[in-house]
Amino acid sequence: MEDYLAVNRANWDERATVHAASTEYGFERFATDPEHLSDVVRFDLPLLGDVSGLTGIHLQCHIGTDTLSLSRLGARMTGLDLSPVSLEQARRLASESGAEIDYVEADTYSAVEAVDGRTFDLVYTGIGALCWLPDIDRWAGVVDDLLVPGGRLFVREGHPMMWAVDETRTDGLTLGYAYFEVEEPFDLEEESTYVESDHQFVNTRQLSWNHGLGETVTALLRRGLEVTGLVEHRSVPWDALPGRMARDGDLDEWRLIDEADRLPLTYTLQARKPVR
Ligand SMILES: C[S@@+](CC[C@H](N)C(=O)[O-])C[C@H]1O[C@@H](n2cnc3c(N)ncnc32)[C@H](O)[C@@H]1O
Repeated sequence: MEDYLAVNRANWDERATVHAASTEYGFERFATDPEHLSDVVRFDLPLLGDVSGLTGIHLQCHIGTDTLSLSRLGARMTGLDLSPVSLEQARRLASESGAEIDYVEADTYSAVEAVDGRTFDLVYTGIGALCWLPDIDRWAGVVDDLLVPGGRLFVREGHPMMWAVDETRTDGLTLGYAYFEVEEPFDLEEESTYVESDHQFVNTRQLSWNHGLGETVTALLRRGLEVTGLVEHRSVPWDALPGRMARDGDLDEWRLIDEADRLPLTYTLQARKPVR
């Protein structure tokens, strides 16, 4: 397979600086308000529950706003990402906020070796993370290996049905991409990113994959994890289908203007590693 990691790393490195400067990620709010949490983690709270005192690893942590939020909720966090520029920004945010977070640069599939076989009470991931991985079975194996017996997985992710919708069509919901995991990646060019910016992107190519919800759940079950929750949501943290979404101020998320009951936009999936 082509070196998809190099293609995606270049894309995410370039996005990281733009994201860290954006009002959407809001670095300054974290620095000025020690209680501030990311919109993503605030949305998670009712399903996430109490994480204080847990050791946690945030896979594909990007620039660390959600990692810092989990740390502020009392978890001892490690963040892992492929993109060194993302981690540079994440370390800066943690240091400006006085938080102690361990950041590790690695491909998700190498996470176990990258943390020297350490295991965690909580594996947290999502919001545009799983789509960068070609093989969901392999991901489930990494999650299993990272968890202590009795540990929890918490995923909030873009729904595979949403990823399958053709985002360029505004005349109704039309499927444009594979719902199931297939070997060939979506080979896409994007001149912009999901925050407001006039940056002219150079590294526009992205290689990504979809994973059906059943495939993701089954991959965890195959590893012997117990699925403890699966909730589908009508909202998503970014303007995923431009022209058809409006921001919901109460949730700080985006919802479909029409036909909102036809399409799940995100899901929260939780699982537990049994004590064997
Ligand atoms: C959309 S961001 C994750 C979202 C995150 N919740 C956020 O918005 O802050 C995707 C992240 O996945 C990382 N990534 C992509 N492929 C990866 C891989 N194979 N291993 C580790 N990280 C990867 C990128 O570097 C990027 O930081």
